[in-house]
Amino acid sequence: MNFKGASILSIDQFEKVDVEHIFSLAAIMESYAERKKRTRVLEGAVLGNLFFEPSTRSRISFEIAFQRLGGAVTTMAERATTSMVKGESLEDTVRILGGYADLLVIRHPQEGALKRCAQATPCPIINSGDGAGEHPTQALLDLYTILKECKRTFHQLDGISITMVGDLKHSRTAHSLVKLLSLLKNIRFNFISAEALRIPRELLEELLSRGHSAYETTDLVQGLRRADVLYMTRLQEERFATPQEAEQYRGAYCLKREIYEKGVGSRFVPILHPLPRDHRFGVCEIDQDLNEHAALAIFRQAQNGIPLRMALFALILDVATSLRAF
Ligand code: NCD
Repeated sequence: MNFKGASILSIDQFEKVDVEHIFSLAAIMESYAERKKRTRVLEGAVLGNLFFEPSTRSRISFEIAFQRLGGAVTTMAERATTSMVKGESLEDTVRILGGYADLLVIRHPQEGALKRCAQATPCPIINSGDGAGEHPTQALLDLYTILKECKRTFHQLDGISITMVGDLKHSRTAHSLVKLLSLLKNIRFNFISAEALRIPRELLEELLSRGHSAYETTDLVQGLRRADVLYMTRLQEERFATPQEAEQYRGAYCLKREIYEKGVGSRFVPILHPLPRDHRFGVCEIDQDLNEHAALAIFRQAQNGIPLRMALFALILDVATSLRAF
């Protein structure tokens, strides 16, 4: 794809070669992300961050990634402080802000809202989560992490077995990651969830039609036995009609050290999670007793968000070739 001036709304936009391109630039960005090298390639550029849903990692890592490249950031994280409370439409808001900024990053609770945003302005937009829809940059950093954790090249990921656990119906990061992995060959997907929270059927059919295999179960240990990589997700309680409805699934899948070791034996099976993990009593998807385990990749994974997002900014704003050390 042509990244220059492009919006990133869905993984559907990518071919395998595009993902390889992003990853090779992300690898170069690592030393800039760690400030071993410095650059000001985005000096004068402004990122507009619009978050209509809670966020810690995504919002702040987008901000820091833009700043590490020398750009400035303005953030709106409280709908209550905008003219939307006076009745302004999302489209008008985005059209105005798109005229001010060089790039917008938007998170919105409604699936499909990001498409509406992209139609409202020529300014490039990155989807940082649209309801239960997609979260493409999270999936990119998840796959980038899988590559690093498994110490494989992109081509060696063909044939890998991934076990995804939890609220697969509502988890937008899981949806984007399934689509992204589907660009590879012969991926073996193991989906572990309650019956009512299974991966959407359209996604399942799509991956099967691309020649991948899928196995669905409610049993965590069975899923662990089959895993080369483990991807845990949080119960997306904000997507349920009522808190009571979500309540019945709370704490259904809690990965403790004992269960992990029982399932994977002596193999190194990296544990990923887009985060946040829910720490409330009786809930935690990944127990604290795994905090010091070498396979727990969640903090390294979150760290990878910076170089990955720097690479996307550089491609969209067309400064990748002028990167140079100060
Ligand atoms: C995820 C999200 O917002 O979709 N978080 C993130 O961006 N890293 C996952 C979640 O909230 O459970």
